Amino acid sequence: TDTSLIRNFSIIAHIDHGKSTLSDRLIQLCGNVSSREMKEQILDSMDIERERGITIKAQTVRLDYKHSDGKTYQLNLMDTPGHVDFAYEVSRSLAACEGAILVVDASQGVEAQTLANVYQALDNDLEILPVLNKVDLPAADVDRVKSQIEDVIGLDASEAVGVSAKTGLNVEAVLAAIVERLPAPKEGDPSKPLKAMLVDSWYDAYLGVIVLVRIIDGKLKRGQKVKMMSTNATYQIERVGIFRPKQEMLTELGPGEIGFFTAAIKEVADTRVGDTITDEKNTTVQALPGFKPAQPVVFCGLFPVDAADFEDLRDAMGRLRLNDASFSFEAESSAALGFGFRCGFLGLLHLEIITERLEREFNLDLITTAPSVIYHLHMTDGSVVDLHNPADMPDTVKIDHIEEPWIEATILVPDDYLGAVLKLCQDRRGRQKQLTYVGTRAMLQYELPLNEVVFDFYDRLKSVSRGYASFDYQIKGYEQNDLVKLSILVNDEPVDALSMIVHRTRAESRGRAMCEKLKELIRPHLFKIPIQAAIGGKVIARETISALRKDVIAKCYGGDISRKRKLLDKQKAGKKKMREFGKVEIPQEAFIAALKMD
Ligand code: GTP
Repeated sequence: TDTSLIRNFSIIAHIDHGKSTLSDRLIQLCGNVSSREMKEQILDSMDIERERGITIKAQTVRLDYKHSDGKTYQLNLMDTPGHVDFAYEVSRSLAACEGAILVVDASQGVEAQTLANVYQALDNDLEILPVLNKVDLPAADVDRVKSQIEDVIGLDASEAVGVSAKTGLNVEAVLAAIVERLPAPKEGDPSKPLKAMLVDSWYDAYLGVIVLVRIIDGKLKRGQKVKMMSTNATYQIERVGIFRPKQEMLTELGPGEIGFFTAAIKEVADTRVGDTITDEKNTTVQALPGFKPAQPVVFCGLFPVDAADFEDLRDAMGRLRLNDASFSFEAESSAALGFGFRCGFLGLLHLEIITERLEREFNLDLITTAPSVIYHLHMTDGSVVDLHNPADMPDTVKIDHIEEPWIEATILVPDDYLGAVLKLCQDRRGRQKQLTYVGTRAMLQYELPLNEVVFDFYDRLKSVSRGYASFDYQIKGYEQNDLVKLSILVNDEPVDALSMIVHRTRAESRGRAMCEKLKELIRPHLFKIPIQAAIGGKVIARETISALRKDVIAKCYGGDISRKRKLLDKQKAGKKKMREFGKVEIPQEAFIAALKMD
């Protein structure tokens, strides 16, 4: 295909502003899917995605659009996920496009996520086409949102297209604008050696690993032998195709085009996103700059409630990992929880999605331990150790200092809730960088330690702002702080799964809150149970669960006081023994409670 007839674009939007609805409309208008098939939202294919209304896996659909100039254009629409945890997937989809449609809900206006995505698109030199959606709503205020886009983002919004993705109103104008206002791919040379960018890959039960590519130069053909430049691994192309959104097989892809191939690749892990694919023999091409792999930033332990489910859990996690290289896990064991896994995630939503899928799709009952970030331990011998699990913290005398990750957060919130949001950020050790206004909403720039955000920051933010605040962040870097390991001891035994790293100034209040919570959650036993929070050997908070008292003197009537005393003494001795050897049952809720602390 002539590259001047190709348009590669993504749709970027804040969650719920209508990206999926608009995508479906565009697909439908180009005649790709019958309206019967329209019943299902096409791009959001996974169950949980659909329920939560978010899109996880980026995919691309090719549309044929006949423009009023009489020519038929090839439009490649790349779907991008909307949540902060998946910002990495957004950035790599953007790298394969020349343009982006920015969907803004005309009744809501610009949100934090919109800003983050637009800045990413601008960083990738994309042309941005603003589209105001939901103009059918009485609360839609097109002029206000247009000037917001101009003031806040600095984009010319005078020609922004107003549409209703729901009713279909004016959606055709979006297709025309894509052709007229977004650039075609830079002209590639079909006769040059193959140079293609690996955009994404995933595992398909029927076809195996599917690799999504953007061709820069040359051609990718069925039967061709190709080489991945980062690993030097070679493969023979089995199938070449595109999605419409159903798979359609082709014989080749040329410059500017986006499509997929399969090549008997065994695992998604054998493909590197951002890698350059070239012809096996003709390898003169210069590799593309590539991407840094998505690194897990939040870690937690996952343990089966029933120890017999351990192998099933391992299998289930292996299956999920086939399609999600950013999810990592390795076996660990805990004195309190038995055998389980230490898992790494891109963020809290990613953690929730994975645990929910394990429970729902694989029918597993799980205990999730408190999430942790990666700390850098600078040891006295000069080495630096990454700590993923607070339980593994070495002896403090060997540690010189500890660094923790910090984020830069952008929060948009209506004026009425500003005070509550400022307090929340302050309570989480935040540093205010900037406060400006977007219409009647405050735009806050804050620096926060990630470990204060992984607890329940997002939930708290939503609750103190009645759901009106929007939030986005990126990792800023590591900073040294006065951090300590807080251990929780139940019946004098440290419970490894409850230990956490906290700032020294927060240790006491968090320790006390933990002890109080555990006191409520652990049922009384026949012996007294001390619950303590400690830093090193020093106890900083303590609660005691009194013993259930078996009534040993009930049968002694009357006055034989010495016999009574003897029985009571005997009971005491028995209790002491139990306390030493007794095992306290800690309920699952206790571990979950550790997740939600304030
Ligand atoms: P994520 O996949 O979570 O990023 O959301 P999204 O941006 O894809 O939003 P989606 O298309 O799922 O739409 C969110 C909600 O807005 C749905 O309930 C839609 O029915 C509704 N919606 C989308 N477009 C319009 C519109 O033009 N008018 C009205 N009134 N509602 C719309």
